[in-house]
Amino acid sequence: MCGIVGMIHAESVMTALVPALRRLEYRGYDSAGIALLDQNQLTRHRVLGVLDQLTGDMPKDWDAKTGMGHTRWATHGEPSVRNAHPHFSHRVAIVHNGIVDNFQTLKTDLLNKGYAFASDTDTEVIAHLIDLHMTQGHDPVSAFSVAIQQLEGNFAIACMISHWQDALLVARRGTPPLLVGKGPMGYSIASDALGLVDVSDHLAYLEGDSWAIVTQDSAKVYDFSGERKPLNWQKQMLHHQSCNQGDYAHFMRKEMDEQPDVIARLLSQPTPTLAQLYPDLNHVSLLGCGTSFYAAWIGKYVLEQRYGVTLELASEFSYRHAIMSPGVTLALSQSGETADTLKAVAYAKNQGQKLISLVNAPYSSLARCSDHVLDMQAGPEIGVASTKAFTAQLWLLFALAGITPDRAQHLPQSMRQALQLAPDIRRWATALADESNMLYLGRGVSYPVALEGALKMKELSYIHAEGLAAGELKHGSLALVDQTIPIIFLAPHDAIFDKTLGNIHEIIARKGRLHVITDQAGAEKMPAVGLTQCLILPDAPDPIFNPFIQTMALQLLAYYTALERGCSIDKPRNLAKSVTVE
Ligand code: F6R
Repeated sequence: MCGIVGMIHAESVMTALVPALRRLEYRGYDSAGIALLDQNQLTRHRVLGVLDQLTGDMPKDWDAKTGMGHTRWATHGEPSVRNAHPHFSHRVAIVHNGIVDNFQTLKTDLLNKGYAFASDTDTEVIAHLIDLHMTQGHDPVSAFSVAIQQLEGNFAIACMISHWQDALLVARRGTPPLLVGKGPMGYSIASDALGLVDVSDHLAYLEGDSWAIVTQDSAKVYDFSGERKPLNWQKQMLHHQSCNQGDYAHFMRKEMDEQPDVIARLLSQPTPTLAQLYPDLNHVSLLGCGTSFYAAWIGKYVLEQRYGVTLELASEFSYRHAIMSPGVTLALSQSGETADTLKAVAYAKNQGQKLISLVNAPYSSLARCSDHVLDMQAGPEIGVASTKAFTAQLWLLFALAGITPDRAQHLPQSMRQALQLAPDIRRWATALADESNMLYLGRGVSYPVALEGALKMKELSYIHAEGLAAGELKHGSLALVDQTIPIIFLAPHDAIFDKTLGNIHEIIARKGRLHVITDQAGAEKMPAVGLTQCLILPDAPDPIFNPFIQTMALQLLAYYTALERGCSIDKPRNLAKSVTVE
């Protein structure tokens, strides 16, 4: 999704602005731009495509101390230079994340008042609206505060105004995050804490429905009724090194390798159990989107040994008006900023639910509205495809369910051994790279693992991959099985192995292209003929941890298949890391 950065520093912002934008590249974008305010003049430079193009063509002699930048992920209007931010209206420059729901009405009104539009975006109305209020006699601050109250929807915006003072006016309504940072050079703003690495040693999140005047040495915050609000400063915990790719070809590959250490770190620290937090608890609702949803689904298998559990896709949940069983909602989100999850959580809280969030961003919007926050401590996840956050979420769910770290003591080591199977998995990937379709099968808890594996394959390699419950094959999908479609079958030697074996025979009988992922005990019982490939995973310390080990193999398979196909691994097409619009 879009990224915003802005700075007012004691010296030229040019050396800091573009690196800050680069740190937001991971969020996904199709065009980018910066605007500078220097000696009362606004200048801008915008490109379609990547930031390298922006820096390549940019005038080298810019020396402004106030500036802002934007990476755009198109919503209103195609990706193009004319739709890239910042947008201008006379003295006003605007960058914006989110959607102005009532932009059409505002645009019609502004057109009637003589404003000409240079883009197809909803954003441009904001710039013209502020300009309109200034022409009607408002000073810049009051024009800004009146304009933002006319906007409907969820948004974060930053604004510069020429022939006034060196300041950034910023506002946030609803879900899209916006932070203020302070550091030795001055104040900065960003839509993501990563944008403030290197320029700020302290940062503070703007609450929803608030706005601020940011200058080189202050940030004054107000709510929408004009009342002054304090900022809650936190120490900046992210550092340059934690956002580095090191010797890896891709962030994703690095983040996969980090997983055993992430789990080891979590195992070494106490995580409260649900029984400790809520001794009388009977029911748990799980909420998340995408990979976080699949983590929740796997967690359901351990939690339901003790509690009634309801699993909900956050993007579907809020609009169903479901009556929730009284209890605790566990909301899972790597970013803590996913609009669908925040919306679902607001609904759950309205229903009187206690909220525990599992996040990788402990100051995120989700964390800040939670009764308890469990921090994944996975470090920044830059690759768009979620990897280490997924396994960290799994452990936190297991811990909440009461699984003690001593049971998982050898888990990091087993995960490391699974990652060492990379050369074997790469051979599979080479053979599979030209496929158009794949099936991923699993039974029991291996079913949501298969779904997650299929999602990884889809998003990274653009191959259509479908996850199925193996037991469901004969209820329809068996019709797909022939000698052409590759089937990735998760078949651990667990309590339902015999049933799994039955499904494997069903496929063999139809000459299916079976790629089985199993363990030593499973491999010993596999049919001698009929498997195209068989990968033997290291044993998990306990079968309950199989999903962690299987996930290593499925992530590697998606990664190497995408690599073979020449796909953009860290930034798959059309996707964004932090999905801040519904
Ligand atoms: C897939 C992936 C997405 C996210 C989803 C939710 O690899 O990363 O499916 O899991 O967009 O994001 P968070 O966890 O930030 O709420």
